[in-house]
Amino acid sequence: MTHTTTLQMRAVFGDRYGTADRLDVRTVPVPELADDRVLIRVHASSVNAYDHHMTTGTPLMARSMAGIRAPKRPVPGSDVAGVIEAVGAAVEGFEVGDRVFGGVGFGAWAEFAVANPRGITHIPEGVSFEDAAATPMAGLTALQALRDLASVQPGERVIVNGASGGVGTFAVQIARALGATVTAVCSTGKVDQARSIGADRVIDYTAVDFTTEAGEYDVLLDNAGTRGWFATRRTLVEGGRNVTITGPKHLVFGPMRNMLFRKALSMMDSRTFVSGTARTVRADLEALAAMLAEGSIRPVIERTWPLEDAPRALAALAEGHAAGKHVIVV
Ligand SMILES: NC(=O)c1ccc[n+]([C@@H]2O[C@H](COP(=O)([O-])OP(=O)(O)OC[C@H]3O[C@@H](n4cnc5c(N)ncnc54)[C@H](OP(=O)(O)O)[C@@H]3O)[C@@H](O)[C@H]2O)c1
Repeated sequence: MTHTTTLQMRAVFGDRYGTADRLDVRTVPVPELADDRVLIRVHASSVNAYDHHMTTGTPLMARSMAGIRAPKRPVPGSDVAGVIEAVGAAVEGFEVGDRVFGGVGFGAWAEFAVANPRGITHIPEGVSFEDAAATPMAGLTALQALRDLASVQPGERVIVNGASGGVGTFAVQIARALGATVTAVCSTGKVDQARSIGADRVIDYTAVDFTTEAGEYDVLLDNAGTRGWFATRRTLVEGGRNVTITGPKHLVFGPMRNMLFRKALSMMDSRTFVSGTARTVRADLEALAAMLAEGSIRPVIERTWPLEDAPRALAALAEGHAAGKHVIVV
């Protein structure tokens, strides 16, 4: 059973695929609340490459989820932080008034968003809505890549290629929290930022090619995907692990095609290659919430934008040189 409403809200809206300037802010109905969902009054969201894929419909494979000819869900935004406004009859563990954050897939760039309770958790006391909203997708990607795909152990040497954007800034801090020593690869203007979040060593990729270092690292987390298998394998010790979450983007298959090539090339090697896609899992959000509470991760926020400027925030992200996260404040 669903609870229908005639209440209205402001939301970013895009019913055609295209660049960010096709999005506008409209008044639309507050979404319906099903028995197994909660309704969140959104205080903040953030911008991810995922939102770019869902609003541009690229790579074309993304349309299998977002809609073949046009977006099925015209309000974008996955990361959310806010206060629970209403709770479906079948939901346990959340109450009206709870401060929560997590991932909703679509609909977070709005005053209200509906969430599956499996994809949210409580915001720890003392953590702001902005910091909470910056965390879900980028934090989950970094956590799952380092802890689950790479099985990083205390004392290991981790290099993060693409250390200055959303995922990279969480990855440097999470690798440190897992007990690794961390080398960050970023551009000149982000060197100080990488040091400030705990990188033991920073390589400016405009001056030095990190793949010229032979066999120094146990784990490469590649958030940039700028170098091929043979170049990156040199940086790893025997038995080292390359965890890659992106790569050159094919029009239809995105980075998937290149990742399959790399996987095939790694089959005969002592170094392993793993790729993966982040999952919105409550237990992992709780792990991130604990890290936020104890201060072992502090989201890096490049800029906050009002809801009306969410399309501009998305365009800024699409330029490819974010310094941490772009956060949308509602
Ligand atoms: N598999 C998954 O589940 C998953 C999840 C989230 C994201 N992703 C993918 O992972 C990638 C990173 O995501 P994100 O959210 O961190 O993106 P982001 O916030 O837009 O950051 C991208 C970063 O890439 C860096 N960069 C650009 N060229 C580089 C180069 N040649 N060498 C090293 N770094 C370079 C930029 O830093 P500089 O300014 O220093 O160049 C920028 O900070 C994206 O391609 C995204 O699609 C995958």
